[in-house]
Amino acid sequence: MLRGFFVIFLLCTIAILAVFGFRGQVSTAPPLGTVPIGYEMPKPHAPETQAMSVGPWSHPNASFSVGTDYYDTGKMGDHWGTGIPLEVTRELMERGQQRFNITCAMCHGAAAMGNGIVKQYGLATVVSLQDERIRKMSDGEIFNTITNGKNTMMAYGPNIIVPDRWAIIAYLRSLQRSQNAVIADVPPEHRADLDKPAENKPPEAKPAAKPEAPKK
Ligand code: HEC
Repeated sequence: MLRGFFVIFLLCTIAILAVFGFRGQVSTAPPLGTVPIGYEMPKPHAPETQAMSVGPWSHPNASFSVGTDYYDTGKMGDHWGTGIPLEVTRELMERGQQRFNITCAMCHGAAAMGNGIVKQYGLATVVSLQDERIRKMSDGEIFNTITNGKNTMMAYGPNIIVPDRWAIIAYLRSLQRSQNAVIADVPPEHRADLDKPAENKPPEAKPAAKPEAPKK
């Protein structure tokens, strides 16, 4: 009688443990695709492994707006200033391209035409940055729009460090110029090239691989 009780008790204990396991134990391995509590996002100026990470943006002092000077506000005295207050190098342009594509293109489009993907999802107020008005806008005012937002565009100041904002503006200017170029913008020695057929044809699109029929 007592023996039978012990056997049943033992089986119940095993069954309960099998179902519930040892609760209360802290697991140190979060499931794939989740973020553990207390995890800190990498800071924007955290060193990156990409080749183009060296520049004003990777400087330890690179940060969010702190001062009241042109570099930090886009303002010269009471007016918007213009000009890129960093040396405009190939690296700066590439950095700007990368940052523009990450933080602006989904709304304004890769060529700043105002046709980013979010427009299809209902953000109808996105503007083209190719408009004459924006082309003529001072760099400082654009800096301010990135920093503080404008009407229905939210502020990106808390997300984009100051040197990256200027890199984005430098790249935006090149996008604007690319869509409004005149023959005088082409160096004389390259003008003849304009009549040549393009040499670098995009690679032929590969025929899509046929999906295999599921094996029976
Ligand atoms: C989430 C969508 C979104 C993103 C991302 C975005 N914008 Fe905008 N932007 C807008 C909208 C919407 C407007 C129109 C604002 C209005 O007038 O209502 C606008 C307007 C502007 C204007 C014109 C402001 C003016 O004075 O009329 C500039 C310049 C601009 N954006 C630059 C940028 C740059 C540079 C970035 C990337 C750092 C960026 N935007 C990222 C949505 C976005």
